[in-house]
Amino acid sequence: LNYNVTKDRRSILEILFNGLKRLEYRGYDSAGISIDLIIISNNNNNNHRSPLVFRQEGNIENLAKSVFQEVASIDLNLEESFSVHAGIAHTRWATHGEPAPRNSHPQSSGPENEFLVVHNGVITNYKVLKEMLVRHGFTFESETDTEVIPKLAKYVFDNTNDGEGDHSMTFSQVVFEVMRHLEGAYALIFKSKLYPNELIACKRGSPLLLGVKELTDTVSNGVSINEVKCLIKNGQPKELFFSSDPQALVEHTKNVLMIEDGEVVHLKDGGVSLLKFDHEKTKSGGFARTASVQRALSTLDMEVEQINKGSYEHYMQKEIYEQPESLTTTMRGRLIRGGSCKAKSVLLGGLKDHLKTIRRSRRIVFIGCGTSYNAALASRPFLEELSGNIFQLLTGLPVTMEIASDLLDRRGPIYREDTAVFVSQSGETADTLRALEYALENRALCVGITNTVGSAIARNTHCGVHINAGCEIGVASTKAYTSQIVVMAMLALAIGDDTISSRTRRDAIIDGLYDLPNKVREVLKLDQEMKDLAKLLIAEQSLLVFGRGYNYATALEGALKVKEVSLMHSEGILAGEMKHGPLALVDENLPIVVIATHDVCFSKQQSVIQQLHARKGRLIVICSQGDSALVCTGGSCRVVEVPQVEDCLQPVINIIPLQLLAYHLTVLRGHNVDQPRNLAKSVTTE
Ligand code: G6P
Repeated sequence: LNYNVTKDRRSILEILFNGLKRLEYRGYDSAGISIDLIIISNNNNNNHRSPLVFRQEGNIENLAKSVFQEVASIDLNLEESFSVHAGIAHTRWATHGEPAPRNSHPQSSGPENEFLVVHNGVITNYKVLKEMLVRHGFTFESETDTEVIPKLAKYVFDNTNDGEGDHSMTFSQVVFEVMRHLEGAYALIFKSKLYPNELIACKRGSPLLLGVKELTDTVSNGVSINEVKCLIKNGQPKELFFSSDPQALVEHTKNVLMIEDGEVVHLKDGGVSLLKFDHEKTKSGGFARTASVQRALSTLDMEVEQINKGSYEHYMQKEIYEQPESLTTTMRGRLIRGGSCKAKSVLLGGLKDHLKTIRRSRRIVFIGCGTSYNAALASRPFLEELSGNIFQLLTGLPVTMEIASDLLDRRGPIYREDTAVFVSQSGETADTLRALEYALENRALCVGITNTVGSAIARNTHCGVHINAGCEIGVASTKAYTSQIVVMAMLALAIGDDTISSRTRRDAIIDGLYDLPNKVREVLKLDQEMKDLAKLLIAEQSLLVFGRGYNYATALEGALKVKEVSLMHSEGILAGEMKHGPLALVDENLPIVVIATHDVCFSKQQSVIQQLHARKGRLIVICSQGDSALVCTGGSCRVVEVPQVEDCLQPVINIIPLQLLAYHLTVLRGHNVDQPRNLAKSVTTE
């Protein structure tokens, strides 16, 4: 939405489509957009705006093509210009209703489009609201939960006029009334032809930001929203943006306001009002009452180059290759080598005030989903080993694992004496966020490990560590996984006491961490070898991955990578469980990856290989450099040799050939590697 900057319709559309493309990785099965058309009346004073709405199945490119064609055919004056214009756009990941134009956003209040809404989240009480609205004569065209929102806005609007056709409610009052009736999670933007040139955004549970672009000057960090309002009223030209992700804003501005739950941001006449429910006043009856809020803008720590593909063909490929640098950034300033007689140690600033409580806690509970869960699982063995400290009589802390949705389904035990560690790349995953609320209710100490500064998990945990891996855009998480493991290795070292008996091991791990980026550079040289392997496997139906110990998680994560992007069935299996079922699948056709790098489980993995050879298994063995002959006795197999590092850091190295395999399999099989079918990067619905 721009003030006093003349823009033609094409550039307005381009801004919206470019923004959507930046968000496309979060959902890409259908998209929609609404911009204004100025209807010229005979009497020039009565010119009014009518919203044009376009919605389409498929990706944003499809929508953009047809919108530009259609706009040209609706109105030959494509270059119509606006000094203030409110446009909204949305890319969807279907939850309620198949991907189809009628289910795409903006959802509308009815044929006249009085209220239009784009929504990220899920309205859990939509059925009750729908029944009520149907009773009042509304007809619904979609299967979405979202459609109740614009219709409710229309209902509120129609039922609150003063009886003489004079509507006394402001746009924000209408939205507050709507919010009062909504349950669930949402970030919403409202556009209305009844309130032309205004936009309202509000949120509860789902992320949302306001970006403020000063066109004559820059708004520096620390300027509050009320000062922005003054500046705008002073007539300085501006562009204002709402987005659920900073990536759509950074090419326009770095000055942002992180909107908080329960807040409503109203853009009108060049002013920005930030309002919040006043629960006390609202209790006294009547309409929702609000209070204005004042908060400082913050500055995005992100560069446009970080979110471009550069010379790579795909984001996933770029992110796999970025791992030496992302790991370096993760560790920067956190490893201390010590002086001649000082011990090596780690410094995690975000934890320093809570470290004592963590060390005294009864157990550590890791909570996450998908790849983040796997990273936590990879860290469990060394946390158990290294977290021994004086409060635990030098024995390691018990560590348990929880998949966020399962913890919630079971309302599993979380105690006040627990340290609950929430691992999430985006920091916005709904399941993990709900589990965090649950752990906070149970008064556990909550620690966040995220890649997104300012995300809901980062804000709502008591303390935490940012993994600093840089923006991750490919839906399949790669560099965030390895950085998460490294952060958790540092966490284990920070919790554990540096005793004489643990000193050698701790020093070896810290040295190993320093050297890890170099070893990652080395393992990336396997790219061609993994591409050749992918060519061999291209037509397979299924791939099993066996791992154990430190590399049980590698097996799960490797299989997850393969299945989510290449769409080939793949299963990660704990090698110790092989004889209890999976062995029945083994024959000369089914390809099986066995992870058998050198660690305490090595001899057990050698036996697994023998048992698989005995059943004529078709084996691909990932082993330490120089171990080929040791792992390949008793049958033929294809060997992938990787550099050997400290055993607990080996999962960082071992996952990389599997990431490369998944990448090449996908490209060779002709699938979209950055936007796998049916998935989204950050799943903000339960
Ligand atoms: C989605 C993504 C996965 C990711 C998971 C957890 O399912 O497709 O790649 O691992 O969410 O996301 P988080 O942002 O919490 O790490």
